[in-house]
Amino acid sequence: MTGYDDIAAILRNDDDFSARDHKPRAVAEMPPDIKEMLSTWSGESASLGEMDPPDHTRVRSVINAGFTPRALKAAEADIRAAAAHLLQPLTAASEFDLITEFALPYALTVILRFLGIPAEHHEACLRWSDHKVQLMVGRDHTPEQLREYATGLQAFGEFARELTAQRLAAPRDDLISTMLHENPHGQRLSPDEVVALIPTLIITGHTTLAQALAITVRTQLRSPGAWAALVDGTVPIPDLVEEGLRLDCPVVGMYRTTVREVTVADRVLPAGSRVLLLYGAGNRDPDRYPDPDRCLPGRRPAPPHLAFGRGTHYCVGAALARAELQIALEELADRFPALSAAPETTPVYRPTFPLRALTTLRVRP
Ligand code: HEM
Repeated sequence: MTGYDDIAAILRNDDDFSARDHKPRAVAEMPPDIKEMLSTWSGESASLGEMDPPDHTRVRSVINAGFTPRALKAAEADIRAAAAHLLQPLTAASEFDLITEFALPYALTVILRFLGIPAEHHEACLRWSDHKVQLMVGRDHTPEQLREYATGLQAFGEFARELTAQRLAAPRDDLISTMLHENPHGQRLSPDEVVALIPTLIITGHTTLAQALAITVRTQLRSPGAWAALVDGTVPIPDLVEEGLRLDCPVVGMYRTTVREVTVADRVLPAGSRVLLLYGAGNRDPDRYPDPDRCLPGRRPAPPHLAFGRGTHYCVGAALARAELQIALEELADRFPALSAAPETTPVYRPTFPLRALTTLRVRP
């Protein structure tokens, strides 16, 4: 599905469409021992993204309680401090890679702090997340490499189990403790559910964000005068954040599966059909966004973009992501008013689907 209205209609229709099997299937056949490791590393609980109501509703309402406007407001100073800490040393550089030296460590630092994971685990979480991405790529790995990545994921699962046990015994003011301990509505998640959620939140919480930030900066640097307009406030940063997400959305699509025969866009889909919803294409639907390939911050009238999905599985971290993007752009504009792109060869993306992942973005202060 590539049309905005068709995608939005499917995402509203939980009666006919299930989120099970929502991710791409592995592209390569794995050796049996690795398959076994990959099916058990994060425990028994289903992942949030593949749950349907009512299970999804129950789990999501507990997680949502950790992302209230109050919790986000309280995190703002930490987010800004993380950006400043990473950007300050770069002011002395003649050139740096915005992705590896800022966007990725920034996004990871923020989500780890939000979850309440101490900074000493930063490197390991980055490595394990990379193993997960490598396994998504799937092709061209030797059995030894696959084993190394799967072993890494098992260590990630073990780490999540230990952390869950610690926060169960001694709660702190963090998202993991919020999910494990009964809230005022008498709800909480089981330890198994939290163990499965920790790696999900870490991985989805930083890879997408780093991509969104990098691509938004890249678009501005490639358009004459656009960075200056951001720096002098002619273009409001919140508008730029929304238009950056619309124009080049990091999660290009997701699958849904029909639970009964359904007619969509004049096609009859039998029960069990997998439908790929291309959010990136919907975001450039010319019927909804005139002149769709141009970056026009503040375009109106325009419907909300699909970069965070829609409906039941709407991104749980959307408000946090918006705050992170806004703060990062403010801090970048403040320190690097004359930022420019280093001469670029063809941009290289990791061959991952559905995540777009630009590998490098060299910039000059
Ligand atoms: C710019 C950054 C981000 C983008 C573009 C993004 C994109 C998305 C999209 C498109 C979905 C819906 C998937 C579907 O329809 O099946 C989603 C769901 C999700 N996102 Fe994000 N995301 C971002 C940031 C974050 C952050 C910071 C977190 C962590 C706090 C996060 C955690 C999640 C989770 C856990 C889900 C599953 C929600 C559910 O199934 O109920 N995301 N995200």
